[in-house]
Amino acid sequence: MKIAVLRETAETERRVAATPETVKKLLALGADVTVEAGAGITANIADADYAGAGASIADRAATIAGADMILGVTGPLAAELPGIKQGAILAAILSPFADPARIQGYADAGISAFSMEFMPRITRAQSMDVLSSQSNLAGYKAVVDAAEAYGRAFPMMMTAAGTISAARAFVMGVGVAGLQAIATARRLGALVSATDVRSATREQIESLGAKAIFVEAVKGIEGEGAGGYATEMSDEYKAAQAELVASHIAKQDIVITTALIPGRPAPRLITDAMLRTMRTGSVLVDLAVESGGNIEGSRPGEVVEIHGVKIIGHRNMAGRMAADASALYSRNLFNMINAFWDKDGKTAVWTPDDEIVKGIKLTEGGKIVHERLIAA
Ligand code: NAI
Repeated sequence: MKIAVLRETAETERRVAATPETVKKLLALGADVTVEAGAGITANIADADYAGAGASIADRAATIAGADMILGVTGPLAAELPGIKQGAILAAILSPFADPARIQGYADAGISAFSMEFMPRITRAQSMDVLSSQSNLAGYKAVVDAAEAYGRAFPMMMTAAGTISAARAFVMGVGVAGLQAIATARRLGALVSATDVRSATREQIESLGAKAIFVEAVKGIEGEGAGGYATEMSDEYKAAQAELVASHIAKQDIVITTALIPGRPAPRLITDAMLRTMRTGSVLVDLAVESGGNIEGSRPGEVVEIHGVKIIGHRNMAGRMAADASALYSRNLFNMINAFWDKDGKTAVWTPDDEIVKGIKLTEGGKIVHERLIAA
C-alpha cells in the first residue's frame, strides 16, 4: 500500500499529516510512504528528517502517482490531485458542510474521501479523534494569545512597589478546548470561572479549581444531546443565560468562548451591549469564530477592537501550534490506519459496515455516500 503525504496548499494551514515518528510506524506496518518535498517545513520538519525515517521524498506529481491513500490536513481540492488513482482514499479534515462543492469534486474524481472530523465519538476511536487532539491545543493557544494581547499580568504579584491583582478569566463552553483553557489560565495564575449548558461540566470545572457559573432557575438544563454534544437551548434558557453572563462579564478581564452546537451556527453568547460593560484593555478570544462566532463583532482571521476591548478571531487556532498539532494529528491518522491494517496483505482493509468507516467515508465509486450529506 502506497501512502502519500502532501504539502498543504491552503494559506492558513501550517500543519502536516505525518511526522518522522508516524512515517516510521507506517513503514513498520509494511506500507510505502512518500512525502512531498517541503511538506513539513511550516511544522519544523525538514525533508531530511522524513528521509531519515525511511520515507521517499518526491515532487507533487510523483507523490500522488500510484498512491492508494493520501494523507492531508485541510486537504487538497480534487483539482489539485491530477493523475490520482481511481478509488484512492483521501483522509483529511474536509469541512463537508462548509464546502459541499469540494466533496462533490472528490466524488466526480473517483476519490474515496474520509473526513477525519466525522470520527465517531466512541471509545474505540478516541485515539483517532482529531476534534479532541486539535481542540485541546486550541484551548491552550487561545489563553496564551489572550495573555500576549493583554497589557497586564495574569497572576497576582506582591512587589515592593505594591500589589498587582490577578486577572479574571471566564471560559464559556467547557468541552475539550474549554477544559484546556481553564487549566492553562489557572496555571498562569488567573482567577478562573466557566460556564456551559451541559450540567455534567460543573464537576469538571470545579475539579480544575475554577468557579462554575450556571443558570439555575430554568428547568431542563441538562443541555446534553446525542454523543455528549450540546443541543440548542430554549428561549427561556437563553434569556436567563444572557442575564447571568451580562452581570458576570462586566467583572472579567479575559474571556475565552468555545461554544459549538453540531450542525448549527455557534450560539451568540456575548452581545455588543455586554462588551460595553467590560474594562478597557480586556481581551476576548472567539474560538467559534469560523462557525459564526460566539461574540458579536468577532471576525474570522482578525483581531478587532470594539469599545476598548480586543476580540481575537484567529482562524485555525490549532494550526498556530503547527509542530504539536501535526504530531497529534499524525498519530490520529496512524492509529486509524493501524486499526484497519491487515498484516498478511500489508494493506488497510476498510470494512464497509464498520462504524468508523461509515462515520467518516463521504464519497465512494463516484458518489456521495454519507447519510448526513445526502440528508443535507
Ligand atoms: P464542542 O466543541 O461541540 O462544544 C464546546 C462546548 O460548548 C461544549 O461543552 C458545549 O456543551 C458548549 N456549549 C454549546 N452551546 C453552549 C451555550 N449556549 N452556552 C455555553 N456553552 C455551550 O464540544 P467538544 O469539545 O467536542 O465536546 C463535546 C462532548 O464530546 C463532550 O461531552 C466531551 O466530553 C465529549 N467527547 C467525547 C470523546 C470520545 O468519546 N471520543 C472525545 C472528545 C469529547
